[in-house]
Amino acid sequence: MLKKFTGFKKKNIKSEADNTLLDDKNIPKHVAIIMDGNGRWANKRGLPRIAGHREGMNVIRKIVRRANEIGVETLTLYAFSTENWKRPKSEVEFLMRLPEMFLNKELPTLMEENVVIRLTGSKENLPKHTINAVDKAISATKGNDGLILNIALNYGSRSEIIQAVKKVYESLEKEQLPIDSISEEMLNKHLMTGDLRDPDLLIRTSGEIRLSNFMLWQLAYAEFWFTEVLWPDFTEEHFNEAIRVYQKRARRYGGV
Ligand code: FPP
Repeated sequence: MLKKFTGFKKKNIKSEADNTLLDDKNIPKHVAIIMDGNGRWANKRGLPRIAGHREGMNVIRKIVRRANEIGVETLTLYAFSTENWKRPKSEVEFLMRLPEMFLNKELPTLMEENVVIRLTGSKENLPKHTINAVDKAISATKGNDGLILNIALNYGSRSEIIQAVKKVYESLEKEQLPIDSISEEMLNKHLMTGDLRDPDLLIRTSGEIRLSNFMLWQLAYAEFWFTEVLWPDFTEEHFNEAIRVYQKRARRYGGV
């Protein structure tokens, strides 16, 4: 349930969808979202699961605009996990069409809004049409400097960490470095997220309280916000609510 938050009285951003206020000095710079519940949304309506995914795709546009508007710098969306290949072939095929459908339709608006498209995940096994659509959007938006819309596609955190460990090992060998030279920075550099800062806030919809192999390393100090709302029902107001909850939390990074 959404509660009206009336706390912050500083200089504020006034949102269109909700007249409660956000503290513009404390906007999370990187928000990551596990967009869950598309299948259940469709089941509840007697529709095929893909109808839920299509509706879920339509939510993305609004959340990208809102995130950009309030000053979020990076928005990562978990669109397809390495485990999602286990789904029925027809559902996987549809999920692989979604980035293309979204980007074909939204690219002009994303350009107007100065959004930068980025991909986190493995291109291995992705259909050519999906890779082409994403590559086209990445190259069209590479001169922009607004919100980074980072699409996590065919992404799995454990395999990402294993890849990074292998690269660290290779660089030690190549540069003849001692094992003690391994650092967080070194491993971080070899993750698929590379130069992106770690998420400050993780949102997961649909009432599931788990990470599902998503950014296990990068979420070490993130604040988590879980909601029962199914992703196709997620609105800008829910997004605002997540930000307000984030703004009430004291981040101590292990300190006091
Ligand atoms: C999880 O819901 C959702 C997904 C596996 C896919 C999410 C993808 C989108 C919303 C669109 C992606 C498009 C772009 C452009 C990034 P679920 O199917 O697991 O739902 P359930 O748990 O209710 O079955």
